[in-house]
Amino acid sequence: MADTPLLSIENVSNAYTSRAYGLFGRKEVKPVLDNVNLELGSGELFGLVGESGCGKSTLGRSILGLIDYKGLITIDGMPQRNSFDRLNRRRQLTLARKVQAVFQDPLASLNPIKRVGEILEEPLKIHRLGDKWERNHRVDEALNLVGLDPSYKARAPRELSGGQRQRVCIASALMLSPKLIIADEAISALDVSVGAQILNLFQDLHHRLGLALFFISHNLNVIYYLCDRIAVMYHGQIVELGVADAVYNAPAHPYTRALLAAATTILGEDSTGNASDSTPTLFCRYAPRCPSLCPACSTALSKLVNIAPPNAPPHFTRCLRLDI
Ligand SMILES: Nc1ncnc2c1ncn2[C@@H]1O[C@H](COP(=O)(O)OP(=O)(O)O)[C@@H](O)[C@H]1O
Ligand SMILES: [Mg+2]
Repeated sequence: MADTPLLSIENVSNAYTSRAYGLFGRKEVKPVLDNVNLELGSGELFGLVGESGCGKSTLGRSILGLIDYKGLITIDGMPQRNSFDRLNRRRQLTLARKVQAVFQDPLASLNPIKRVGEILEEPLKIHRLGDKWERNHRVDEALNLVGLDPSYKARAPRELSGGQRQRVCIASALMLSPKLIIADEAISALDVSVGAQILNLFQDLHHRLGLALFFISHNLNVIYYLCDRIAVMYHGQIVELGVADAVYNAPAHPYTRALLAAATTILGEDSTGNASDSTPTLFCRYAPRCPSLCPACSTALSKLVNIAPPNAPPHFTRCLRLDI
C-alpha cells in the first residue's frame, strides 16, 4: 500500500520496574514514555532530540523490539512485538531486514574476536542469503558504501580508529538492505571532526540508497543539520514536532528554546540537565523549569496542538503560551 507509513508509533508507553534493595524491597515502577505518537515516511530523515534521561533510547529500543512497550509500533505495516505478543523467529528475521540500528559505542557493538569481513558476512549467513562468492561481493560493496577499502576485511575491530569502527557498524547495518536505520547517539562518542564525517556519511547513504533515518541525539544542532523533520522529547513526551526549519528557526516550546541555547556549536557540549527526576503529571511537565510560566500551565491538560497556518506542514507544540 502506497500510504502505509514506513514506521508508525501509536500510543506507545513504557515503564521500567526495579526492585528496591533489602528484605522488604518493594517493586518500583518508573514510567518513561507517555503515549508517544509518531509517523515516518519512506526515505525520511527524522530526528529525535531531548536531554539525557528523557526516554529517547527507550523509544529507539522499543522500535527495534528490544524491550516491551504498551501501544502499537509497525514497520512497513508489520507489527513490532509488544508485551502481549512474543515475536516469532520468522517475524523477527523479516523485521531485521526492514530496520537496523547503529549505537553510540562502536567497539561494544563489534565482536572483538572476529575480523571485519566475518562481522559483515554474519547477517547474510543468518538470513541464508547468497553463496560464499556473493556474500563476499556484498561485503566489499558495503565497505565501499561506507568509504572503507575492501582490505579492511582482514582487520580486527581493535585495529581500527573510532570513526572507522563506526563505519563498520554502519556497513553491518546495511548488509540486509534495510529501509530504516535507528541511529542512537551514533556520533556522540566520536571526536568533533570524525563525528561530522559520519553525519555526512549518513546523509550520503540516505541520498544513494533512499534510506530512512531515525536519528537520536541530545544535540539539536546535529539533528537540524541532518534531518528534515524534528521531534523534541521532554520527560517521556513529545513536546514539539514539525519540519526542521520551523522547529529550529521558530521554536514554539520553551524547552526547544532552552535546547537551542544549550547547543552552542554544531557538535558542541551541551549543558542541559537530566529530565527524568520529577514525577509525571497530566499538566505541563516542563512547568517547574519554564521561564514563560502562566497560571493555566498547572491547570490545563497538556496536549499537542497544531499551530501551523492552513496549508503549511503541521507544527505541533504542547505549550499553551502561543503569545511568546
Ligand atoms: N534498563 C533500565 N532499567 C531501569 N531504568 C532505566 C533503564 N533504562 C533506562 N532507564 C531510565 O529510563 C529513563 C529514560 O532513559 P533513556 O531512554 O535511556 O533516556 P535517553 O536515551 O533519552 O538518555 C531514565 O530515567 C533512565 O534512568
Ligand atoms: Mg540514550
